[in-house]
Amino acid sequence: MSPAADALPGSMVWGRRLELVLSEILSASVRWLHVVAGIAWIGSSFYFIHLDLSLKPREGLPPGVKGEAWQVHGGGFYQMIKFMVAPAKMPDHLTWFKWEAYATWLSGFGLLVLVYYMNADLYLIDKSVLDMTAPMGAAVAFFSLLAAWLVYEGLCRSPLGKHEISLALIGFVFLVGLTYAFTHVFSGRGAFTQIGALIGTIMVANVFVVIMPYQRKTVAALIAGETPDPAWGGYGKQRSIHNNYLTLPVVFLMISNHYPFFFATKYNWIIVAIVLLVGPLIRHFFNARHAGKDSPWWTWFVVVFAMMVVAWLSSNGPAGMKKSELPATPAFAQVNEIVMSRCSMCHAAEPVWAGIAAAPKGIRLDDPAAIKLHAKVIAINAALSSAMPPGNVTEMTTDERQVLAAWIAAGAPDK
Ligand code: HEC
Repeated sequence: MSPAADALPGSMVWGRRLELVLSEILSASVRWLHVVAGIAWIGSSFYFIHLDLSLKPREGLPPGVKGEAWQVHGGGFYQMIKFMVAPAKMPDHLTWFKWEAYATWLSGFGLLVLVYYMNADLYLIDKSVLDMTAPMGAAVAFFSLLAAWLVYEGLCRSPLGKHEISLALIGFVFLVGLTYAFTHVFSGRGAFTQIGALIGTIMVANVFVVIMPYQRKTVAALIAGETPDPAWGGYGKQRSIHNNYLTLPVVFLMISNHYPFFFATKYNWIIVAIVLLVGPLIRHFFNARHAGKDSPWWTWFVVVFAMMVVAWLSSNGPAGMKKSELPATPAFAQVNEIVMSRCSMCHAAEPVWAGIAAAPKGIRLDDPAAIKLHAKVIAINAALSSAMPPGNVTEMTTDERQVLAAWIAAGAPDK
């Protein structure tokens, strides 16, 4: 227990500890739910796209059936047929797929609030990018989610919505433009999470606002003994295809906050643009394969090449840094001084930074031995990227990052 905590009355120490434990367990539980719901949603979505593509027509299927597929799983065989539009009469039992999507969004939004909106100073805002208060940052983030969804919805419903290729191109430019803007409003990490949350919101809204309502209309028509309009299924199908191609970029963006080279280097927005192309390309490979066409193996060469470009882009380091201009190898005392003055207020056995209860991620950087031990993670987070300090709250300069980079390039000497 820290000396400061010792000085408090016992009940307050316990109150504070309880608050921390509760907020950790809440965060862990919501994250657990988010990951599991996401797995269920993406899993069922991949499954149905595969099923749809593998349906084969044959003689003797009931009227209105597009095709049939046989599958083997869990000790038995499944014979699947798909009625285009709807069967002639309502079946007694019908399984709907929607809570996977809704639960993913609700838990994801909960996490966004818990991690990014409630700790906006650390995770969302970077005052050296744009000086704003935490509530302002959270408000800009939230309303831009809504606004971007409205623009997407408008595009899909406009005449452009009928031209898939043009819509995809404009959608791509729109998302890259937004990413560029976000990297000039939020911290790199905040921008990546924001664009991921934005695409995820569009995907869930597709389920909530288009796919489900048209499915309900179809069911209502069947119950009323009417023939459902075939166009209804088409609207849902279009959004379902969008969701299919957006899945991989979203998952990348959601895990990217563990990789400082992507979000905290100067070409971060171009990296997002590349991922927005690579993700759909990988889906294209599987879609073609599942439809029984020749597998487009060329896609993997493009993917590997694109990821090499991402690696090169990220090797350029944080904004303002010049790779070729490293200073002379510094004395360890200089490195020690920088880390002590920029990092140790949080990364200490007893942090002094308000709101930080223990050394984040268990990483202590408060004595020379600990600093040497962590040379590699210091390089990744604070020299070759600007992920740390979060939101650059302790105002580390580019020159200081260069000194750390030179120290690491020289093999992190301890003299
Ligand atoms: C304001 C407090 C604060 C300061 C100052 C700070 N950090 Fe951190 N650091 C954090 C927090 C919070 C996390 C955990 C981030 C998370 O949960 O993703 C963290 C995580 C890390 C990690 C682990 C990253 C990972 O992927 O697990 C490293 C390494 C790190 N910091 C290094 C540094 C270095 C080096 C400095 C100084 C240049 C520094 N930090 C300054 C708060 C701080």
